[in-house]
Amino acid sequence: MSRLSQAKVPEHVAIIMDGNGRWAQGQGQARVYGHQSGAQRVRDVVEAAGNAGVKVLTLYAFSEENWRRPAEEVNALFSLLVSYLKQEIDQLHENKVRLRSIGFTDKLPPDCQEWLKLVEARTQNNDGLQLVLALSYSGRSDLVRAMQRMAAAVKEGLIAPEDIQEETVSNYLSTQGLPDPDLLIRTSGEQRLSNFLLWEMAYTEFYFTRVHWPEFSPEHLKEALREYADRDRRFGAVRMDKPVC
Ligand code: FPP
Repeated sequence: MSRLSQAKVPEHVAIIMDGNGRWAQGQGQARVYGHQSGAQRVRDVVEAAGNAGVKVLTLYAFSEENWRRPAEEVNALFSLLVSYLKQEIDQLHENKVRLRSIGFTDKLPPDCQEWLKLVEARTQNNDGLQLVLALSYSGRSDLVRAMQRMAAAVKEGLIAPEDIQEETVSNYLSTQGLPDPDLLIRTSGEQRLSNFLLWEMAYTEFYFTRVHWPEFSPEHLKEALREYADRDRRFGAVRMDKPVC
C-alpha cells in the first residue's frame, strides 16, 4: 500500500467494535470468546492507528445499553478491560499513548475505575495517540448531562442563555477538548450509530465493513483510511474549483 499523505489521514477515528458475539457463535464458541479475541484486536488497532498518524482513536467499548446484557457477559467484559489495562500500561506509555475515558464511568466496577485512573494518570503527559475508551457511554445521556449543567450555570448567573453557542455545548460534553471524529468505522455489517457521539458526528464520514471486530486487522484499518482519503468532504458547502451552474 502506498503511504497516505498526512494531510489525508483523519485526525480522529471513532470505532464501533461490533460482531464479537456473532463471530464467536459462528465458531461454535461462547460470546465471551469473541470479546477475548476482540480485546486482542484493540491492541493491534491502537498500534496501527498511531503508526498511521491518527491523533485520536475513540473506541466504543461499552454502551449504557450494554448493562442490559447477562451479568456473566458484563463481568467478563470488565475483567477483559482490567486485563487489557494491566497488560498494556507499560507498552501504551512507551508508545506515548495518552488514555482517556468518556461516559458514566462511576458506574463501572471499582477495580475498573482504579485501573482507568492509574493508566490515565501515568499517560497524561504523553503526546502520541490519544486513546479514548467510551465506557458506560450514551450520546443522549451525555447531552442530557451537558444540558443539566448548562441550565445550572444559567441559574447561578455564570452564563446567559444567549451565550450558549455550539462551542459551549461541546465544552460541556465528556468529549470536551477533543476534535470531532473525522471517520467512524463500524464492523460486522450493521449500519447505525447506536447512541455513539451523536453531537460530535454531525459531519463525520461513515465507513461500514462486514468484517466482524475479532477479525478486523491493521490491514482493514488501512483500507478504511484509504477510502476516507478518497472522500470529498464539503461540510455543506460547494467546491469552488468547479462552476456552480
Ligand atoms: C460488540 O459486539 C462489542 C462489545 C459490546 C464490546 C467491545 C469489547 C471489546 C472489543 C473487548 C474489550 C475492550 C477493550 C477496550 C479491551 P457484540 O457482542 O454486540 O456482537 P454481536 O452484535 O455479534 O452480538
